[in-house]
Amino acid sequence: MNPVVAIDGPSASGKSTVARRVAARLGFAYVDTGAMYRAVTWRLLHEGIDPAATEAVADFARRMDFRAIICGGATRLECNGPILPEDLRSPTVSSAVALVARVPEVRARLVEEQRSLRPLAPLVMEGRDIGSVVFPDTGHKFYLDASPEVREARRHLQGEQDAIGRRDDIDRSRTVAPLRIAQDAQVIDSSSLSIDEVVDAVIASLEKVGLRHSPPGGATP
Ligand code: DC
Repeated sequence: MNPVVAIDGPSASGKSTVARRVAARLGFAYVDTGAMYRAVTWRLLHEGIDPAATEAVADFARRMDFRAIICGGATRLECNGPILPEDLRSPTVSSAVALVARVPEVRARLVEEQRSLRPLAPLVMEGRDIGSVVFPDTGHKFYLDASPEVREARRHLQGEQDAIGRRDDIDRSRTVAPLRIAQDAQVIDSSSLSIDEVVDAVIASLEKVGLRHSPPGGATP
């Protein structure tokens, strides 16, 4: 079975940048599961469905044609048609996505898709529930955190203005797969660390257990 490095944490904890760089260093495919929840949200909004209408969202999730396709070490998404990466970070999507991500039917379908990627390549997968729900059996779990002030400042630097505090509250308090630290995850507080320091810490910890560079499609340790 291909190895999976799970990187979870709240918004703006630095996990996307870290996960992308760890994947590049290891030669693993990088999978951003937040982008999957955003893709569903974008399509719902595009089809005029209210993201707060739980039953309508659940019904959409039961019928949607969702696909994550690994290509060139990254992931391309389709949800009833192609989804463009530049659509996923719009303020409308950012403020609606936590409502969509709390709907069990949405989660069930996306978790199924996430698990289906493992046989295809060694993975670095980032999200909120990768170590706790999607791949609880992986031995490589990291939980990245940073103080609320540092996270808010990082979001502003990235040009995003949405209230991450509100999004995190919904993510933490939902009934299905709430954001929490998996029991066996290594917690890294990145408040006073550079991205490179966090990446180095993750890589060092993986090397300690023998996980090294392995290009997608190549032999796995
Ligand atoms: O990481 P992000 O900001 O792109 O995530 C967008 C939303 O999706 C956020 O509200 C958390 C949610 N999410 C989730 O519930 N489970 C995941 N595995 C990934 C993201």
